[in-house]
Amino acid sequence: MKIALLGGTGDIAEGLVLRWSKAGHDIYIGSRSDEKAKGIANEYIEKLDELGIESNIQGMPNADAAKEAEVVIISIPPEYAADTVRQIRDSFTDQIVVTPVVSMDRHEDKSFVFNPPPHGSSALEIKEALPDTVKLVSAYHNLPAKELSKIEQELDYDVVICGDDEEAKEVITKLTEDMPNMRVLDAGPLKLSSMIEAITPLIVNLNIKHKQNFSVKFK
Ligand SMILES: NC(=O)c1ccc[n+]([C@@H]2O[C@H](COP(=O)([O-])OP(=O)(O)OC[C@H]3O[C@@H](n4cnc5c(N)ncnc54)[C@H](OP(=O)(O)O)[C@@H]3O)[C@@H](O)[C@H]2O)c1
Repeated sequence: MKIALLGGTGDIAEGLVLRWSKAGHDIYIGSRSDEKAKGIANEYIEKLDELGIESNIQGMPNADAAKEAEVVIISIPPEYAADTVRQIRDSFTDQIVVTPVVSMDRHEDKSFVFNPPPHGSSALEIKEALPDTVKLVSAYHNLPAKELSKIEQELDYDVVICGDDEEAKEVITKLTEDMPNMRVLDAGPLKLSSMIEAITPLIVNLNIKHKQNFSVKFK
């Protein structure tokens, strides 16, 4: 598939780019800077080449990446995600858009707490910024970027997703299962995204306190 990652130069995008390239997908790395996007794309191509993996990764501005793709991942910090989408709204037609966005605050004692926008979740805030023709799926909030980027490692994690379009969720389920050993659990409609997003600060706090790489696994 043709997959764009807006803010594809950042942390969570790295593992997704590498793992989906390995699975044979075409990747468009989006950025505010064309030069930065092309530089990072070349780094990933070289990294994969050293592992003997052929890839098709291109860097470009966020608006062009979104236009090119069938699936668009919004890998941008929470405070800028909805505004970025709004600025490039014309690039969206009927793509499947995925939000892994989680809005968290860090308190003085260094612990993270969930701090959703007034919409109740980042997913609902981003939905409002997108045209109605786009199919929005909420996924990947609970994956630690560092572990995801170690592509030689299989990840025994569950990926809880939600969204209002069943076909779009099926596409994202298949794409996720292209990353070996990951299991997708469909939690239901997009309005439930706040519950998935809210687990993330708990996982981050546990990982810091116990020096672990926890995610979620339902048994
Ligand atoms: N990191 C994780 O482990 C993790 C796990 C699950 C979910 N998430 C979610 O994934 C999203 C991305 O997280 P991340 O850790 O990958 O973020 P990040 O590395 O801090 O940033 C990702 C990219 O966002 C772009 N960006 C930064 N400031 C921006 C602005 N003012 N306007 C538009 N774009 C801007 C940058 O790309 P350019 O400079 O190239 O434009 C940057 O490379 C977040 O919403 C986060 O909640 C992260």
